[in-house]
Amino acid sequence: MERDLGLEQLQQGIYAAFKSWHKTDEGDSPFANLVLFRQQQNTTPRKATNKILFQALESLSLTHRQEAALLSRHFLDGEKMQSIAHEKNIGEATAYRWQNDAIAQLAHVLQAHEREARAQRQSILAKRLERPTYTQLIGVDSQIEALLVVLLAPGPPWLIAIEGLGGLGKTSLADALLRRVIDECLFDEIGWVSARQYDFNPGRGLTPRQEPALTAEQLVEKLIEQLLPDTPRPDSFSPQKALALLETRLKQQPHLIVVDNLETVVDLEALLPTLRDLSNPTKFLLTTREKLPYESGIYHFSLLSLNEADTLQLIRHEATLSNPPYLQTAGEAELKAVYQVVGGNPLALRLVVGQTHFFTLPTILADLSAARGKQVEGLFTFIYRRAWEQLDEMTRHVFLAMPLVADGQGNLEHLADLTEIDPASLRDALTWLVTLNLVDRRGEAHDSYYTLHQLTTTFLHEQVLRWQ
Ligand SMILES: Nc1ncnc2c1ncn2[C@@H]1O[C@H](COP(=O)(O)OP(=O)(O)OP(=O)(O)O)[C@@H](O)[C@H]1O
Ligand SMILES: [Mg+2]
Repeated sequence: MERDLGLEQLQQGIYAAFKSWHKTDEGDSPFANLVLFRQQQNTTPRKATNKILFQALESLSLTHRQEAALLSRHFLDGEKMQSIAHEKNIGEATAYRWQNDAIAQLAHVLQAHEREARAQRQSILAKRLERPTYTQLIGVDSQIEALLVVLLAPGPPWLIAIEGLGGLGKTSLADALLRRVIDECLFDEIGWVSARQYDFNPGRGLTPRQEPALTAEQLVEKLIEQLLPDTPRPDSFSPQKALALLETRLKQQPHLIVVDNLETVVDLEALLPTLRDLSNPTKFLLTTREKLPYESGIYHFSLLSLNEADTLQLIRHEATLSNPPYLQTAGEAELKAVYQVVGGNPLALRLVVGQTHFFTLPTILADLSAARGKQVEGLFTFIYRRAWEQLDEMTRHVFLAMPLVADGQGNLEHLADLTEIDPASLRDALTWLVTLNLVDRRGEAHDSYYTLHQLTTTFLHEQVLRWQ
């Protein structure tokens, strides 16, 4: 879907468009990949093509009157080149050279028109996104590339889920992807709905959002508001009618639609089949803390935490932005100590950097380990509370045993010994913990093990005891 704006291509397109100016059949438009073309609605491809060409010609005549007149006489009015050459007292070869030069000029004009159309379109689409929380995303390039391949594939999967623990950067990754899609005009249409209920800001702490948890119906409503703001609503606007309206739109044209924090949608079981119906050719990019069911048609993308090098880079980047005392001069060993306690969770890392305006690094890390202070408590509540409350006794027991396992050693046998739980129940518990992204499954297909994010280990150290 990517659109090239090369001058040579535009020249060829212009020539082809001139040649077919008078044709009555509706072939493929040489301008089909231009935003200018996509913007023309309620018209035929031929008329749309001719209109684009004519407007470019009109602009050209303001600066290059002779050139515009030559093209118009030859291609639009059908005058023979020979007679034009004769009138101008030049050879026919020269006349053709003039024609080529004029087309080259016209390509510049068309390029400028297309750039302007794109810029306008991009600013409209970007308004549908939320304000980004980051200035620069670290360590995400390969994930962006991998996801773009899936999103831009012309066929399935239609539902793509970015899954992972709170604060890992799912929303930020989706935001970066959509900004890329907008910048490069990879989809004509995008949408963004959020089901998020709480915000956690490293400086201000935990704040609930005004709106209650979203239902599937409300989500459809929100998308209609965003994508069809000017469509009149009938008086009796039932949920079925709303859905049909949205479906017509999403089937007509491929959209890329993000549903952020899908896990908090009230009736998720009802929503998933709806999303499936609405998809193709439209794609849905979903972010969720809880893994979606492993049914056919959902592509699961697990977001991992940052590695040590990226963690250090993130801390240094945050430090340059907010300039807390001492942090900029902190040595590598001190920053590595942060990684030991927090791991590569960007949200938690930003909290730590924010705290260095008030306290020393060792104090902050000790507070985190001991779950001391409002900020720390807020962070743990934000990331873990909802998941923790969904665990039964047995699963909590397994979860609490996880920090006792050395890294890489947590296979099924070892965990069964450690927790003294029968294999079937242990499997159930692990399934649930992995689904909630509280525990990660790693390793090879034949030799896998279960492990915790470093932040989760820290959380289990103290905070969880208060919730028991
Ligand atoms: N790769 C990254 N580099 C720098 N900052 C990041 C990165 N990823 C996330 N952040 C920052 O970390 C914070 C948490 O990110 P984000 O909100 O995207 O996480 P999330 O996975 O969507 O969390 P939640 O489950 O709560 O929705 C944000 O302030 C964001 O700007
Ligand atoms: Mg999010």
